[in-house]
Amino acid sequence: MKRVYLIGQGGHSKVIKDIIEAQNVYKIAGYLDDKFSSLKEEHGSIFAPLSYVKELQSHDAFFIVSIGDNRVRKKIVERIALPVEKYAVAIHPSAVISPSAQIGHGTAIMAKAVLNASTIIEDHVIVNTASVIEHDSFIEKFSHVSPGAILTGNVTCREGVHIGAGSSVIPNIVIGQWSVVGAGASVIRDVEQEDTVVGVPAKSIKGRVGK
Ligand SMILES: CC(C)(COP(=O)(O)OP(=O)(O)OC[C@H]1O[C@@H](n2cnc3c(N)ncnc32)[C@H](O)[C@@H]1OP(=O)(O)O)[C@@H](O)C(=O)NCCC(=O)NCCS
Repeated sequence: MKRVYLIGQGGHSKVIKDIIEAQNVYKIAGYLDDKFSSLKEEHGSIFAPLSYVKELQSHDAFFIVSIGDNRVRKKIVERIALPVEKYAVAIHPSAVISPSAQIGHGTAIMAKAVLNASTIIEDHVIVNTASVIEHDSFIEKFSHVSPGAILTGNVTCREGVHIGAGSSVIPNIVIGQWSVVGAGASVIRDVEQEDTVVGVPAKSIKGRVGK
């Protein structure tokens, strides 16, 4: 079996661990996180700071950045600068994935997620539990579609978008890069980049005091 190191050991990495174990393609070799000051081995697993990433590379070693925050995930990917093929793809066996869907490296597809025909999910994306990504939708790198969110047909999420839990987006909408859709929102118009929209129908809160 291929070995995989999880980068980051927080709440999100617990979910990735469960997916990888259910997927039965990779064996978890250990965790890299700067909360470890040096390399140690316990019960056959490696625990080491991120600086060990290069040393741990071998032909059968893969990595996955298991951090939920989109910007932090991007920062780490840039910092460790691994070839993209060294990133594992974590797919829960209960996910329903169209044969015509494309899934990038370092991406995690969680339990009961649905990816319908001709969807494209780029690298280092999180498609969270029971979310639905309908036909022809395009999710750019470092995005996160939260649990129970529904992206209907031909929705585009530019880089780093966070779609909140239980929200929905009507067809043909474009969400600008690094924007956030609040939990439970219903998006019926395009969202500008670096915006935050909430509510039904979703409206920007960027202009509010403190935003
Ligand atoms: C949208 C969101 C990012 C805003 O967070 P924030 O910037 O800290 O905003 P605040 O909590 O200060 O709220 C700002 C205003 O927006 C409102 N608001 C915030 N989130 C909202 C939501 N989801 N729906 C409706 N209104 C919301 C608040 O009531 C507040 O309104 P007010 O100015 O009238 O008091 C956050 O509330 C949210 O929904 N995040 C998604 C979380 C999620 O789904 N995580 C999944 C992890 S797997």
